[in-house]
Amino acid sequence: MKAIAWIKYGAPEVLELRELEKPTPNSDEVLIKIHASSVTAGDCRLRAFKIPMGFWLPTRLVFGLTKPRNQIPGMDISGEIESVGKAVKLFKKGDKVYGTTGMKLGANAEYTCLSENSALVKKPNNITHEQAAAVIFGGLATIHFLRDKANIQKDQKVLVNGASGAVGTASIQLAKYFGAEVTGICSTSNIELVESLGAKKVIDYTKEDFTKNKEVYDVILDAVGNLSSLQCKESLAKQGKLILINTGLLTNLLSIARKNIICGVAGESKESLDFLRERVEAGDIEAVIDRTYPLEQTAEAHRYVDTGHKKGSVVISVEHKEI
Ligand SMILES: NC(=O)c1ccc[n+]([C@@H]2O[C@H](COP(=O)([O-])OP(=O)(O)OC[C@H]3O[C@@H](n4cnc5c(N)ncnc54)[C@H](OP(=O)(O)O)[C@@H]3O)[C@@H](O)[C@H]2O)c1
Repeated sequence: MKAIAWIKYGAPEVLELRELEKPTPNSDEVLIKIHASSVTAGDCRLRAFKIPMGFWLPTRLVFGLTKPRNQIPGMDISGEIESVGKAVKLFKKGDKVYGTTGMKLGANAEYTCLSENSALVKKPNNITHEQAAAVIFGGLATIHFLRDKANIQKDQKVLVNGASGAVGTASIQLAKYFGAEVTGICSTSNIELVESLGAKKVIDYTKEDFTKNKEVYDVILDAVGNLSSLQCKESLAKQGKLILINTGLLTNLLSIARKNIICGVAGESKESLDFLRERVEAGDIEAVIDRTYPLEQTAEAHRYVDTGHKKGSVVISVEHKEI
């Protein structure tokens, strides 16, 4: 099968298109024919090994000390079940599925195998595979941080920093679904996008500093990584929650002692993916796709995501040439 081989940590050039052996499912696994995957900010951080301070060693231990343990990068997938192992009960050949390979990686390829119990569920039926792959990264992060950790409530005031990225575009839509009043922070060229997704107010970070406008929010989600609890002090309500999703070990340790600071890593589960599918099918969340690249140009997609200025998601489309 065609796949992207990830030979070492470094610049996008470490990613090469190769012919690798097609995997075979174990008895509890399904073989997925991948139609679309993605390149996320997380994938690029891992490739270049730009990891928040203090997490270098634990992350290397998981993903490979001297070089990547998993030969193929990528996490988000949308595709269909090609075959199932003997003991598989939840899926059958032909099922259309979406999900994440998580720390196992392997998404930027024509095929992958996953346990039937992994974060894999039925794909939303009203969108393409490309759109399904696009909603996963931001969707799972925002469900974890806004719904599960901050327990977002109707009529709360929510501020999203980095509103035009994958996490930001999903956060605006999910916060609006929960009945919150959302303010998004983005640059001038993204104001229209952020408003169209449901932000009631938009702050242009090139012109205004939100910490000086005297507004107070119940939840502040920083998806950029340039905010601190000190900076947000005046802007956060007394019982307010500050979500810092892109921060080093020290702040993570501080968040254990401070109940109003939320850090950590978003998890993945069938429940979250099902919830995301329901939101997509109900029209509460739509995919925001900036660019789509063919599998062969995955390194190019990494180069673009590395700029830090994508809007929503970057998708990898996988074409299967029938022989
Ligand atoms: N902890 C976790 O579990 C977890 C989960 C998911 C993601 N993350 C992390 O969260 C971060 C965000 O992920 P993402 O996928 O949303 O990233 P992304 O899509 O790459 O973010 C790019 C967006 O950020 C905007 N941006 C850049 N500088 C900004 C600034 N100073 N103020 C406001 N917006 C700014 C850009 O807009 P302009 O072009 O207009 O500047 C662009 O639209 C990444 O570092 C990722 O690794 C962590």
